[in-house]
Amino acid sequence: MEEELKELVKQAESDILVCASYNDLLNIKAKYLGKKSVLNSLYAKMRDLPSEERPAFGNLINATRKNIEDLLEKQNKAIKEDAWKKSENRTAIDLTMPGIFSSRGGLHPLTIIRREIDEVFLGLGFEIAEGPDIDDDFHNFDALNTPPDHPSRNLADTFYLEGGGLLRTHTSTVQVRVMEKYPPPIKIISPGCCYRNDKPDPSHSPVFHQVEALVVDKDISLSDMKDMLSQFASIMFGKNVSSRIRPHFFPFTEPSAEMDISCVVCGGTGCRVCKYSGWIEMGGAGMVDPNVFDILGIDSEIYTGYAFGLGIERIAMLKYNIPDLRILYENDLRMLRQFKGELR
Ligand code: DAH
Repeated sequence: MEEELKELVKQAESDILVCASYNDLLNIKAKYLGKKSVLNSLYAKMRDLPSEERPAFGNLINATRKNIEDLLEKQNKAIKEDAWKKSENRTAIDLTMPGIFSSRGGLHPLTIIRREIDEVFLGLGFEIAEGPDIDDDFHNFDALNTPPDHPSRNLADTFYLEGGGLLRTHTSTVQVRVMEKYPPPIKIISPGCCYRNDKPDPSHSPVFHQVEALVVDKDISLSDMKDMLSQFASIMFGKNVSSRIRPHFFPFTEPSAEMDISCVVCGGTGCRVCKYSGWIEMGGAGMVDPNVFDILGIDSEIYTGYAFGLGIERIAMLKYNIPDLRILYENDLRMLRQFKGELR
């Protein structure tokens, strides 16, 4: 008997597996489990058995019934899923389907650092100014006292746009825009994107970020600038970090300087990050050239000012120990996920 029932389940299974609709399934269900089914007729046979054999026989029939029911249910699910997958504009909402998991986003490390820089300067009394990424020769070069034959104007360095205009090569353009519009006293920073025709390498990218600072008032001196830089360095990188300025040249500042901070990795003793110099370059700085004031109609007999531009990527790389600038632009989720918790 047991063998016969096993055979019956096998038969039912092969019938069930070819069912392509719920109706097909109902027919098969009637065939194997209905009133006129073989299985059902066995219940009648049970009466002829001696009473001690009845329970085992009953269990066998019930188990067989359960097997067939399970097969029917399994196929029913498969048919439903198949129909869902095939339906062209899956407009029907199947509330029994599991949802689509979406994970929480986070801020990009450059955004985190930019906001941190904003906070530091806001705390030091600066306001935030913005300027356009697409600008012109006047704001990027002319008003910044840059001679017509200056190499930075070269096509090899600057992205010029068809029909005029250019992608700003530095955020110093915003100095010009602010001085055009507002009389001193001025105390602004301007963070933003810059563009240069540079090949990407571990420390260059054709798109990068700077934060510009400009302070114009009566009696502003180089020592004010130096003081501001060292305050910024110690708030951003810690009290032990010192800063220095070195003579340099920029067309729009006189005197001009480059500013360094003591190496945040080795503390100034020399390591790979600071190329064994103990110092890390942060950007350019200087006293606003009187020519710039003259071009923009600010009286250079009354006012003086300082300005500087810091590289935001450089600061992010130092803070987060990122060895290659390009990592910041690849958007590899394994890198970005490490900053998820740093929402600000
Ligand atoms: N604009 C310069 C650059 O991109 C950086 C700079 C130098 C900004 C001196 C300044 C400055 O404001 O005073 O290399």
